[in-house]
Amino acid sequence: MGWMRDLIHAGGTGGLNWHVHAHYARRRWQPTVDLIDAFLAQVRPQAEHLLLIGCSAGWMMPASWLARFERIDAYDIDPLAAALFHWRHGRHLRQLGVQITHHRQDALATLPALLEEHPQACVWFDNVLGQHRYRIRDEARVEQDLATLKHMLHGRHWGSVHDVYSGPTDGRALAHDWHSWPHHGVPAHAVAENFAQTLLSHVGAKDVWQDHLTREVFAPDTPTTLIPWAFKPNYWHWLQAGWVAAY
Ligand SMILES: C[S@@+](CC[C@H](N)C(=O)[O-])C[C@H]1O[C@@H](n2cnc3c(N)ncnc32)[C@H](O)[C@@H]1O
Repeated sequence: MGWMRDLIHAGGTGGLNWHVHAHYARRRWQPTVDLIDAFLAQVRPQAEHLLLIGCSAGWMMPASWLARFERIDAYDIDPLAAALFHWRHGRHLRQLGVQITHHRQDALATLPALLEEHPQACVWFDNVLGQHRYRIRDEARVEQDLATLKHMLHGRHWGSVHDVYSGPTDGRALAHDWHSWPHHGVPAHAVAENFAQTLLSHVGAKDVWQDHLTREVFAPDTPTTLIPWAFKPNYWHWLQAGWVAAY
């Protein structure tokens, strides 16, 4: 019954539950999508080919960014991702002539081979790295795996948006206008060292928050943008987005 479990949960990070939730949360997630859109709009990837990792159905993916590429290879372990991505973005991308190929694959485990196969492509981790801790239960290994990525990606144009923290909130942040939220260009090291308290108080955090162990995804001086996500009305995530240009 492994296929059935995958269909419903896809390893706990995707699957039917996630898609139903994402569909009904579209309006509440829109400010987050807009902030991701604004972040990606100022990224100018020097490549025509994108490896899109953790694409899901592209619930939070701005269509304008996808449309910049001639070719996209999209990876997800979720058996529903390809069909739902196609439903949401397929027609638009086809009209623009973007060639998209879906792969049901653990793209983190197979990353070295993917990079070797596509030496010219840039890479975007689309809200997937913060989930690594739910698949690999050993915290030290999760941190190690995530810290190693930047070395593996050395010489590439690549970026990621991922969870930094998540947890229960008192709901007051729902009324906030996040479009003018100013936190761009925060060096990656500052997030864990002196910014965490600001982030938590801004969303009215309560009780115990989860650390997604992503603090070493980016090198310490990488400028990052911090993006709030009302995953549920009273359960928020802080996302961090960054882009590393090869030179
Ligand atoms: C939070 S969702 C991503 C949301 C997506 N970017 C969107 O806009 O809808 C995380 C996704 O990553 C996928 N995933 C988790 N680990 C993965 C891995 N190692 N390789 C490929 N996909 C993975 C999950 O199946 C899930 O669809």
